Amino acid sequence: MSRFWNPDLQNLSPYVPGEQPKLEKLIKLNTNESPYGPSPKALAAIAQANNDNLRLYPDPDAKDLKQAIAKHHGLQVNQVFVGNGSDEVLAHVFLGLLKHPNRPVLFPDITYSFYPVYCQLFGIDYQTVLLNSEFAIEPNDYLQKSKELGGNGGIIFPNPNAPTGRGLPRSQIERLLAQNQNSVVVIDEAYVDYGTESCVPLLHNNPPNLLITHTLSKSRALAGLRVGYALGHADLITGLERVKNSFNSYPLGKLAQIGAIAAIEDQTHLDVITQKVITTRTHFVEKLGKLGFKTLPSSANFVFTHHPQHDAASLQQALRERGIVIRHFKTSRIEKYLRITIGTDEQMDALLSALGEILLL
Ligand SMILES: Cc1ncc(COP(=O)(O)O)c(C=O)c1O
Repeated sequence: MSRFWNPDLQNLSPYVPGEQPKLEKLIKLNTNESPYGPSPKALAAIAQANNDNLRLYPDPDAKDLKQAIAKHHGLQVNQVFVGNGSDEVLAHVFLGLLKHPNRPVLFPDITYSFYPVYCQLFGIDYQTVLLNSEFAIEPNDYLQKSKELGGNGGIIFPNPNAPTGRGLPRSQIERLLAQNQNSVVVIDEAYVDYGTESCVPLLHNNPPNLLITHTLSKSRALAGLRVGYALGHADLITGLERVKNSFNSYPLGKLAQIGAIAAIEDQTHLDVITQKVITTRTHFVEKLGKLGFKTLPSSANFVFTHHPQHDAASLQQALRERGIVIRHFKTSRIEKYLRITIGTDEQMDALLSALGEILLL
């Protein structure tokens, strides 16, 4: 704390991202990045754009990128918003669409831990809704909670949820949307390509209160480029543009825009690398089971698992000592669990053999 700070800073608990270790030899399975590289077409486009034109500002509206995203999803350009990673998009969503006096925003008690951080930063009232005993989201609980509160300021959750990896079928979200018409429902589809039904088809009917966020950081293997986007009714997008243009006109650089367009257009690369991760996930979960781990069903590029006889924090530490980094959250209800990103087959085998040794100690 410094006397020069805005006093509000003292009460913030900023989000703590997973470690980005410098040691190259480490097996890094802690932040849900892709183990495979991005589309070679994206890399080529970035290399080609790496020239003197970088002296100029990028297109503040990222029109070509929005056009590519709209075409990819079969939507209109005015239904697309882009930002510097979906974290930035989500920040604008909280401020622009989820802040309503006396109507708290609802999200699961166990979910992406950035949501409460945005609420704190922007002074947004929120209430959490418990996941059920199987760690799944129960859409009816949101309607019930909203009734108790006399209305909500919005509902947001990832589908599949993080860090549990559990997904909801589109039909359940469609029902929630129909029964929650007075606020925006935001579905964060950061991990949707790994086996969950996307809600994007619902946007073809242009509902006024559905917003969906996507990122290029996971299945498109471009976490380093920082590109995310939101899809929804043009009125919601206009609201987000007002926030963005009151904060930073140029959130996406030229290289990010150009690389993202090529990545979005390369469906084959996406299909190949996501399918590899899904196949590895199936084998990995089976082998974890043989070591005595209980793993939640996952439709993400990570699994959430625990061992009934072993302390999760100690397992994480023992793996760290063997050069393997995974994630453990010291959060109530999930202290027993470990979140493990799906890497290559070789990385998962190295993890399994390290776990095999550790469990025998
Ligand atoms: C559920 C969820 N949403 C959004 C993000 C943000 O992704 P990015 O800012 O890289 O687009 C993450 C990152 O881990 C996430 O887990």
